[in-house]
Amino acid sequence: MIQVSGIFKMFRSGRGKVFALKEISFSVEKGSSLILAGKSGSGKTTLLNCIGGLEKPEKGNVICAGEQIHSLSGKALSRFQRRRIGFVFQSGNLLSYLNVMENIEFPMALNEIKGKRRHGRVSELLDAVGLAGAGSAMPFELSAGETQRVAFARAIAHSPSILLADEPTANLDSENGRQLINLMFSLSRESGCTMVVATHDAEIIHPAPHKLFLKDGQIEDAI
Ligand SMILES: Nc1ncnc2c1ncn2[C@@H]1O[C@H](COP(=O)(O)OP(=O)(O)OP(=O)(O)O)[C@@H](O)[C@H]1O
Ligand SMILES: [Mg+2]
Repeated sequence: MIQVSGIFKMFRSGRGKVFALKEISFSVEKGSSLILAGKSGSGKTTLLNCIGGLEKPEKGNVICAGEQIHSLSGKALSRFQRRRIGFVFQSGNLLSYLNVMENIEFPMALNEIKGKRRHGRVSELLDAVGLAGAGSAMPFELSAGETQRVAFARAIAHSPSILLADEPTANLDSENGRQLINLMFSLSRESGCTMVVATHDAEIIHPAPHKLFLKDGQIEDAI
């Protein structure tokens, strides 16, 4: 489902050239989950962004759900991302002027899913993430854990083939973090979604069956 072959990514910054990814190759089977682990600065976010087409590597190739995503034009890439990929960011990134229900509906609206179906799906997802009845709450009224659960519901609302999550538990206490990650694993398993999660949370890394450990932009270990 995801095939990454020999990607390099370099940034030019005030510090000069930073080689964020150096010759990274791996694949993730359809329906399975991969954890990207490694210290701060090891390249986890850059790698997720290259998989999801938010960054373009200088060299190498990424095939995602059958598409060579870095060969797609801007318009085709956004269409692909909108339909096939769900993103969960570290800080939730809910749209502050939309309520919970509208936030979850948003990716479905972009994919032109009709109102009635959207509303049914929102209730189903709110139930699944333990927030039934919270549809009319505004993002500022939510706790960090609730925000991340809504962000996750939004990421899977349009039934993406691939879910990419960057430190989804970083702002949560360990109990809420564990709950969210269990939920992510069980719902993605049920829907057959392929998931890649970047984290340095040992509680997530330890029990996960498939993991890549990054160090200075390279794969240090793969389990
Ligand atoms: N836009 C950018 N411009 C310049 N350098 C960047 C940029 N994005 C990332 N880097 C550098 O690339 C390297 C990898 O960064 P990345 O954000 O991928 O690490 P990370 O493993 O996600 O770290 P963290 O755990 O802190 O989120 C770091 O040295 C970082 O400073
Ligand atoms: Mg990061």
